Amino acid sequence: LNIPAFQQDLLRWYDENKRNLPWREDQDPYKVWVSEIMLQQTKVDTVIPYFHHFLEKFPTVYALAEAEQQEVLKAWEGLGYYSRARNLQNAVREVVSEYGGKVPDNPKELGSLKGVGPYTKGAILSIAYDQPEPAVDGNVMRVFSRVLRIEEDIAKQKTKKLFEDHLREIISHDDPSSFNQAIMDLGASICTPTSPACLLCPVQEHCQAFAAGVEEQLPIKKKA
Ligand code: ADE
Repeated sequence: LNIPAFQQDLLRWYDENKRNLPWREDQDPYKVWVSEIMLQQTKVDTVIPYFHHFLEKFPTVYALAEAEQQEVLKAWEGLGYYSRARNLQNAVREVVSEYGGKVPDNPKELGSLKGVGPYTKGAILSIAYDQPEPAVDGNVMRVFSRVLRIEEDIAKQKTKKLFEDHLREIISHDDPSSFNQAIMDLGASICTPTSPACLLCPVQEHCQAFAAGVEEQLPIKKKA
């Protein structure tokens, strides 16, 4: 992979095609955090109105920390997976009590918070804090299994590590925030699970799966 050319083609496409999403209006780490937790098991279109409502009710870590749990669960009603909301509030309370209300900007403290796994940690550090950290979820593994033609089983924990190692090499250090969000948009709109739109893809010329005509066979997912 020609990494600088890949980054340039991807970032140019993102600059011209990025979706206007409410959590992209600024880099407030609290808003990025809320959005990433909501987006874990829920589609973008569903999340948008919940995100607006949640931020109106709980505009800051302090507002969320001080709220009654019942209020928080009520704002989450319809999104499901309520442990996400409980963990988020518990973690935000810890941010207020232990970190003076500032969402940690380092992997160790951030990753120790309830509900903040490797993906969410990487998303917050890159999107809000401009740090070149990978944020690997299923969509990112799909995109890079194709670009790099990786035939490992993405259901295996080890494979996620493999992608994180690759992404540490490939991620833009000039704009890691846009880089990770560009991959998310590419996975949502072009590099889709079935019938990917390779003819419209800004990184088609870098894609090893496309070159071999095997993009629809990737990623490989065996173990359930
Ligand atoms: N899916 C998960 N995180 C996302 C983000 N920040 N923007 C768009 N889609 C996403």
